[in-house]
Order: sequence, then C-alpha cells, then structure tokens
Amino acid sequence: MKVIIVKDYQKMSNEAYNFIEELLKEKKDAVLGLATGSSPIGLYKLMVKGYEDGVIDYSKVKTFNLDEYLDLPKEHKQSYYSFMHENLFKGINVLKENINIPKGDGIDHLQDCKMYEELLNKHIIDIQILGIGSNGHIGFNEPGTSFDTTTHLVKLKEKTRLDNQRFFESIDEVPTHAITMGIKSIMKSKKIILLATGKNKAEAIKNMIEGPVDENVPASILQKHDDVVVIIDEQAASLLKK
Ligand code: GLP
Repeated sequence: MKVIIVKDYQKMSNEAYNFIEELLKEKKDAVLGLATGSSPIGLYKLMVKGYEDGVIDYSKVKTFNLDEYLDLPKEHKQSYYSFMHENLFKGINVLKENINIPKGDGIDHLQDCKMYEELLNKHIIDIQILGIGSNGHIGFNEPGTSFDTTTHLVKLKEKTRLDNQRFFESIDEVPTHAITMGIKSIMKSKKIILLATGKNKAEAIKNMIEGPVDENVPASILQKHDDVVVIIDEQAASLLKK
C-alpha cells in the first residue's frame, strides 16, 4: 500500500488526477471504477478540465460505479446516478452506453445485482477510485460484510445514514438500503486509489492501514491488494503511527 500524505483537498485531487491522466493518455479504452461522495468531486472537476483542455478523450472509456441507493428514483437529486451526471458525465464525452451504475430503482433488485456482476465480470477495471466511510466502509460494504461478496444489497448502518444526512432534507429521507459492488469485485481492479480528507476519516484510515485485516473494517482488505495508492490529507493521516 502506497500512502501519499498531502496538505489539502486540492492537492489530493491533483495527485489522483495525475494517475487518471497518465492512464487515459496511454490507454484510450480504459475502464474506470468510480465513486460518489465529497472526496472525488475535486478529481472529477480536474477530469472535466482535462477533457475541456483537449488532454483527455473519454469516447472509448467505460465506467463502472460502485454503488447506488435503493428505491430512490434515479432522477432524484441525491441518487448516485444524478450525482455522477452532475459532477462528471455531463462535462466529458463519455458515451451513454459506456456508463454503468448499479440500478437501484428497479423492480427485481436481486436480478439487477446479478446483471451488474455479470457485466463487471466481462471487464477489468484499470483504476478504481474509492472513498471511505467513517466506519471503514468502501462502496457501501458496511462493517461485517464478508470479503467474499460480489454485487449485493445492503442495509445501511445508522452511522452511514447519519453521515449522508447532510445531502438530504432530513434523516427520514436518507435511504435505508443500497446496492453495492462487493469487496471481491473491488479487489479485482488492477489499481485502486483511495481518497480521504478530514479528521472524521482519521480513525478509519488508521484501522485500514495499521489495523488487522478484519471484516469489521472493510477497507482493511486493501492491505492484501498489490497496487493501492492511498491519498489523504494531514488530518486524515493524523492518527497514523508511521
Ligand atoms: C458513501 C459512499 C461511499 C463513499 C463514502 C464517503 O457512503 N457510498 O462510496 O466513499 O460515502 O463519502 P465522502 O467522500 O463524502 O466522505
């Protein structure tokens, strides 16, 4: 695991962007694994700028998103579908048919999980972007999730719902369930870049890097992956020993 500690959010975004730019210059048809949340927004802004400046072309790129809320219409402002379109897809030339996001508002959720996993199995993600929940979750793989999971349905922990409440009018509006790429699916990515800033993430970062590999800290599995880059600010790194 390579850990890069930077001064602030912007520096974190720049570092992450360099990896994406390098990949996309080399491999026009790269497959990107994408995350939602506040952590990757700065990176997505740079990815849009890269396109506007003519540095990156996304016309052959495929994307797979990590997760989606369950039973939230995709047109809802807080669906991850809307988030991704607002923060990235509307600003770049990725083709609609190359965008993949788990379907959270379907009729048969189990079938939708199966279909997403089948699609994932036909691709290899070159770079997977990850954030981390304050409880150590990745995607929506909450503490206690088996490391062996593929795309599946989850009941969100109250801590996660509270953390995400800031995006909704009230806690009652925060969905209780989600569909997420599993840990096994995430681990198949060639390279993983995890982003985190702020004190709120310090404990999760410490447990992920220095704690035992334990299903109660889903992100700790990343210790077993051979190409992970963790880019964090000083606050998120503040509890690390080394
Ligand atoms: C959500 C998402 C995760 C994300 C996490 C952290 O729960 N499902 O994929 O990593 O939040 O979000 P943020 O970056 O806003 O702290």
